Amino acid sequence: SYNGLALTPPMGFNDWAKYECNINENLFMKTGDALVAKGLSKLGYTYVNVDDCWMQKTRDANGNLQVDTALFPQGMKALGDHLHAEGLKFGIYEDAGTNTCQGAAGSYGHFDQDARQYASWGVDYLKLDYCYQPLSDYPGASAADVAKIVYTQASEALRKTGRPIVFSESAPAYYFDNSTFWQIMKWIGNEGNLWRVGDDIADNWQSVLTNYEQTSMLRLAPYAGPGHWNDADMLEVGNPGLSLTEQQSQFTLWSELASPLLLSTDVGALSGAPLAIVSNKDVIAVDQDKLGAQGTVVQTGGGYDVLSKPLANGDRAVVLFNKNDRAQTITTHATTVGFSGTGNVTLKDLVSKKVTTSTGTIAATVPPHGTVIYRVSPTHGASAPSATVLSVTQRS
Ligand code: GLA
Repeated sequence: SYNGLALTPPMGFNDWAKYECNINENLFMKTGDALVAKGLSKLGYTYVNVDDCWMQKTRDANGNLQVDTALFPQGMKALGDHLHAEGLKFGIYEDAGTNTCQGAAGSYGHFDQDARQYASWGVDYLKLDYCYQPLSDYPGASAADVAKIVYTQASEALRKTGRPIVFSESAPAYYFDNSTFWQIMKWIGNEGNLWRVGDDIADNWQSVLTNYEQTSMLRLAPYAGPGHWNDADMLEVGNPGLSLTEQQSQFTLWSELASPLLLSTDVGALSGAPLAIVSNKDVIAVDQDKLGAQGTVVQTGGGYDVLSKPLANGDRAVVLFNKNDRAQTITTHATTVGFSGTGNVTLKDLVSKKVTTSTGTIAATVPPHGTVIYRVSPTHGASAPSATVLSVTQRS
């Protein structure tokens, strides 16, 4: 990793998907309090990230960013202090272009000054968006080159502060899967810790499916690893637009893909089944596994995917994902998910906690839009896979 941070995918909170610009300092302080009170910070949810709209449209006479004091009357240092006193981390948002996506002052041309400002506030995480790209300042340069210039300047500015700051980049999301995207992917992991891959998440199943398809593209898996992650965007767990089955599926799939786990819901109101979904230690352990491999699709069929994620101890996390609108039985095999040999395997269902053994068949009847996630271990006879991602082949 370029800064030694985010050796596992970041976990915490970002306000945007739930609140957009309806934010204030109280929301973030109360969110921090709730992460601690509900035991979520202990499970790893430590970053409390402020998204767009915290700053004014213009800079002051010295070129400094100005906080929107109507929303943050005590200022950003006070918010950072509140979070740090609870053992949490403080994240902030800016944009590598001339303006943020909501039209506030962008960071372009001010990367060093802004980085010093964040450090003085105790910022631990920066999401640097890419609206209002400064393409006209670089005539003759390609869009990929311009992105590289500005994101490299920003990452060096952060490094120069001497403060450990997780760096989240957005450039790829603006060019999803076109030739510029793949040029950007060549350097993105050298300059930052995670990067948005595709669309903005929204509180509906189609959106979850879209971001899953984008992030699970096989060509992306090799870019994930300790310190550098593909970001499928925020979690919608706890929000009204997804059924409980769909909320579980988003959490399972994001963990299988080693995506950051950033809640975007009213954490103070999180309870019952949604709280249980995001508190599931066994699923979190798949996301946070030290090997840092991104799960890949190893089998597809009529409206289903089977994914396999190699884990540090030689186990595999296997997900049976039913995209159909009715239940189906999904069947795969130990050899398909990466085990060689013919021995038995032990399957632990990470949601029901039921443990079974099998001579190789891995199957479950999965509800519509549902997932089953097994931790699969070799019993005897089966040999553990090598600790690398599966060979990458293009999905047709
Ligand atoms: C873009 C990003 C979102 C959010 C908004 C804020 O759309 O993709 O995640 O940060 O900007 O304006």
